[in-house]
Amino acid sequence: MAAEIRGASLFLFYLFLCLASLVASQTLPNNDQKRILLQIKRDWGGEPALDSWNVDTSTNYCHWPGVGCAADGSVVNITLSNQTWTRITRPIPASLCDLKNLTHLDLSYQRIHTRFPTSLYNCSSLQYLDLKQNGFVGAIPADIDRLSPRLTLLDLSGNNFTGDIPPSIGRLPAIQTLWLYANLFNGSIPAEIGNLSRLQQLGLAYNSFAPVRIPSEFGNLTKLTFLWMTRANLQGEIPASFAQLTGLTHLDLTQNSLTGAIPAGIWSLPNLQYLTTYLIPSSSTGRSGLIEIDLSMNQLTGSIPDDFGKLKNLSLLYLYYNRISGGIPASIGKLPSLSTLRLFSNGLTGVLPPELGKNSPLIDIEVDDNMISGELPDGLCDRGVFNSIVVFNNNLKGRIPPSLGKCSKLNNFQIHNNRFSGQLPDGIWSAANLTTVMVSNNTLSGTLPEKLPLNLTRLEIENNRFTGSIPSSADRLQVLLGSNNMFSG
Ligand SMILES: *[C@@H]1O[C@H](CO)[C@@H](O)[C@H](O)[C@H]1NC(C)=O
Ligand SMILES: *[C@@H]1O[C@H](CO)[C@@H](O)[C@H](O)[C@H]1NC(C)=O
Ligand SMILES: *[C@@H]1O[C@H](CO)[C@@H](O)[C@H](O)[C@H]1NC(C)=O
Ligand SMILES: *[C@@H]1O[C@H](CO)[C@@H](O)[C@H](O)[C@H]1NC(C)=O
Ligand SMILES: *[C@@H]1O[C@H](CO)[C@@H](O)[C@H](O)[C@H]1NC(C)=O
Ligand SMILES: *[C@@H]1O[C@H](CO)[C@@H](O)[C@H](O)[C@H]1NC(C)=O
Ligand SMILES: *[C@@H]1O[C@H](CO)[C@@H](O)[C@H](O)[C@H]1NC(C)=O
Ligand SMILES: *[C@@H]1O[C@H](CO)[C@@H](O)[C@H](O)[C@H]1NC(C)=O
Ligand SMILES: *[C@@H]1O[C@H](CO)[C@@H](O)[C@H](O)[C@H]1NC(C)=O
Ligand SMILES: *[C@@H]1O[C@H](CO)[C@@H](O)[C@H](O)[C@H]1NC(C)=O
Ligand SMILES: *[C@@H]1O[C@H](CO)[C@@H](O)[C@H](O)[C@H]1NC(C)=O
Ligand SMILES: *[C@@H]1O[C@H](CO)[C@@H](O)[C@H](O)[C@H]1NC(C)=O
Repeated sequence: MAAEIRGASLFLFYLFLCLASLVASQTLPNNDQKRILLQIKRDWGGEPALDSWNVDTSTNYCHWPGVGCAADGSVVNITLSNQTWTRITRPIPASLCDLKNLTHLDLSYQRIHTRFPTSLYNCSSLQYLDLKQNGFVGAIPADIDRLSPRLTLLDLSGNNFTGDIPPSIGRLPAIQTLWLYANLFNGSIPAEIGNLSRLQQLGLAYNSFAPVRIPSEFGNLTKLTFLWMTRANLQGEIPASFAQLTGLTHLDLTQNSLTGAIPAGIWSLPNLQYLTTYLIPSSSTGRSGLIEIDLSMNQLTGSIPDDFGKLKNLSLLYLYYNRISGGIPASIGKLPSLSTLRLFSNGLTGVLPPELGKNSPLIDIEVDDNMISGELPDGLCDRGVFNSIVVFNNNLKGRIPPSLGKCSKLNNFQIHNNRFSGQLPDGIWSAANLTTVMVSNNTLSGTLPEKLPLNLTRLEIENNRFTGSIPSSADRLQVLLGSNNMFSG
């Protein structure tokens, strides 16, 4: 009896050894990983680009296109994002997650039109998951938090996902980058996103969410640098908690239906450089490194805050197509970095800031269609980079400053429908790149040059008091309107 048992256990032990060696040979990374890759290829059936994933090939599978390995031969990276190469249409196979060390999966720009691939829940090492620009449909599953807890990037942008963003997305603890923009989400944005304490980049733009407010919990995202929520059907006010987003450099909230004012705290955010919203700021006090402010194309009323003049790093200011009234603060002319000023199509009154151009490398101003009066500032071209002045349809008067005649880069000169008088500075006609001159409907006098600049395509001088002779046409001139002047002959 005892001997029989000993015999049986010996046999079992022998069997165990056999099995063990069999298992060992299969778990050697090389065989095992290659076998899994070939299985994945079969599951993706007929993807011609994967022809080189071939059992007979002498090439090490780690060098197969789209495959990346760790030093020990385990596959860590599958990247099939080259759209001119692969066009995968079949579902993402469960076999992918048999690659136990897979950390990086990029299947962007394919044609996968399934629902969200929950088989990826088994990829327990995954850190980077890029599924952008496919045709995924349906809702993001409510148990999305079953994805690897090590996930740092999740890119689902450019798909056809619908419904809500599930609250469980707030339980992916390592997420740093979350791209959900350009989908068909029509539900809610969960406050739980505010729990993603490592989040640095969040893109929810271009979705038709059911009218939503920005969750005030977003103010907890203190690592956030980039928040992009353009055209997301946002309503209500920007939460005051945004004043806590001290890491923020880019904030883009344009094309929504937000109301109220920009919370004062936003102007004090130490790192903010790019602000694009549809709201007029009530004030801009605080230490601000803002470089660009684009609040164009909205129904903004009110006036431009005087303390915009404190934004020492401001280079671009767009407030066009609004209903802003009042004057342009003189402080704008003192900004040391300002290069582009576009305030057209508002109800602005008063004069242009007298120091405009003297203190910064000003390139262009566009303030047409307002009720601005007074004269043109004389320092627009002081830094020698100025190339475009568009001030038509205002109440401007007086002489064109002679300094504009020294503007060698001048390209675009549109001052029509004002009350300018006197002569155009001769030097204007020597700007090599001058293409457009529109000065109709003023009371300008003097003569025009015999030869027009080579590159001039448009010359409109109607309804003035020019004398002398009409210049001979230039090579590239397409429009010449010169009637109602005092030309001879
Ligand atoms: C995964 O990586 C670990 C070390 O990081 C290694 O010990 C293991 O063999 C790898 N697994 C496979 C299946 O290659
Ligand atoms: C994965 O492969 C892609 C393409 O070769 C490469 O750009 C990326 O850095 C790799 N990532 C990792 C984690 O190996
Ligand atoms: C994509 O793959 C094609 C064909 O293999 C190659 O010619 C092209 O350079 C690749 N493009 C990129 C961006 O990798
Ligand atoms: C994960 O893998 C196990 C074992 O292969 C399988 O039973 C399970 O269905 C898989 N889970 C998912 C979500 O695919
Ligand atoms: C995704 O949505 C777009 C626009 O609604 C539609 O044209 C396209 O056919 C959809 N694709 C899929 C795979 O559902
Ligand atoms: C969201 O879109 C889906 C798919 O088109 C639709 O079934 C669902 O009713 C929509 N939900 C809402 C709240 O509009
Ligand atoms: C996450 O956020 C929600 C709502 O903001 C909250 O109720 C929940 O307790 C938070 N924590 C976790 C771990 O989900
Ligand atoms: C998150 O934000 C909410 C609302 O702004 C606040 O009440 C809560 O205390 C915050 N939680 C943490 C952990 O900061
Ligand atoms: C303005 O820009 C300069 C140079 O890039 C930088 O050193 C400075 O900190 C910025 N000012 C503010 C208030 O951020
Ligand atoms: C004229 O325009 C060309 C092309 O935009 C540019 O490269 C060149 O520097 C300009 N010349 C002057 C004097 O502004
Ligand atoms: C005219 O325009 C061309 C480009 O359209 C540019 O290369 C050239 O520098 C400009 N100036 C002259 C004097 O031709
Ligand atoms: C100049 O004024 C006339 C009469 O008011 C108007 O018809 C014409 O469009 C104006 N020209 C330009 C270039 O605006």
